[in-house]
Amino acid sequence: MISDAIETTQCQQKDPVDLFHSGHFVKICAPMVRYSKLAFRTLVRKYNCDLCYTPMIIAADFVRSVKARDSEFTTSKGDRPLIVQFAANEAQVLSDAARIVCPFADGIDLNCGCPQRIHDDLKRTVDLCQKAEATGVSWITVHGRNIEERHQPVHYDAIKIIKQNTSIPIVANGDVKTLKDAENIHHMTGTDGVMVARGLLANPAMFAGYEETPLKCIQDWVDIALEHGTPFTCFHHHLMYMMERITSKQEKKVFNVLSSTSAVLDYLNDHYGV
Ligand SMILES: Cc1cc2nc3c(=O)[nH]c(=O)nc-3n(C[C@H](O)[C@H](O)[C@H](O)COP(=O)(O)O)c2cc1C
Repeated sequence: MISDAIETTQCQQKDPVDLFHSGHFVKICAPMVRYSKLAFRTLVRKYNCDLCYTPMIIAADFVRSVKARDSEFTTSKGDRPLIVQFAANEAQVLSDAARIVCPFADGIDLNCGCPQRIHDDLKRTVDLCQKAEATGVSWITVHGRNIEERHQPVHYDAIKIIKQNTSIPIVANGDVKTLKDAENIHHMTGTDGVMVARGLLANPAMFAGYEETPLKCIQDWVDIALEHGTPFTCFHHHLMYMMERITSKQEKKVFNVLSSTSAVLDYLNDHYGV
């Protein structure tokens, strides 16, 4: 809640652009509606995530309603550096939303995503990125798929061309599941950072080099989520994602239909000693 955040976070601003100039590949947690909330951001930061995004927030609602602000945006002292993502189709509304949130964030991202990601005619995408650069944006994240593509391979070659034709940091996004993938994409595209969504849902410890979610990370999620008063559905969904690769079909049948925090805690204790 912004009101609660004032005292703790207002003076902690960090310039995330410095991360890109520090010479190392920046590891970023993507904006994810319903998922990249404070509790999850706290978890991934424990496991080497350099920079986090909030879920997308509708700028007009954020400006208009205190209730929307309190439900859509929560932060804390350790939740830095933080980028707040807005969806907006009017410059003034975006500017108003940015003004409200700026004491509690280190940057603002405008969601230009689905379905305008990369264009079939790559020249148009390069042109758009160059125009964005000319307006003064600090960096651009590119999900290397076009409007029709959902599960097809990511066009890392297109991301590389965008990088070669711009002077600001470019972040690659799409299908990164391990730290090794991230390093390969860095070498393949020459980009300055990598943004991960589903890979981090499945394994919030991936940026620390884990190939699959370690039990310690599950324990950390339980502790952090309970501490933050995370609603049951969100608490449970995250665990389903994290345990997807380490549980059998049979176990999923039982775990995924549990309907209370105490049932989940009992299950984790009985099966994993968590
Ligand atoms: C559950 C979920 C929620 C998402 N919400 C957002 C969002 O709020 N804003 C946004 O720009 N992209 C959103 N995305 C897209 C991701 O940020 C990312 O661009 C996409 O999933 C591809 O990256 P990945 O292969 O690492 O998952 C979302 C993706 C997922 C899976």
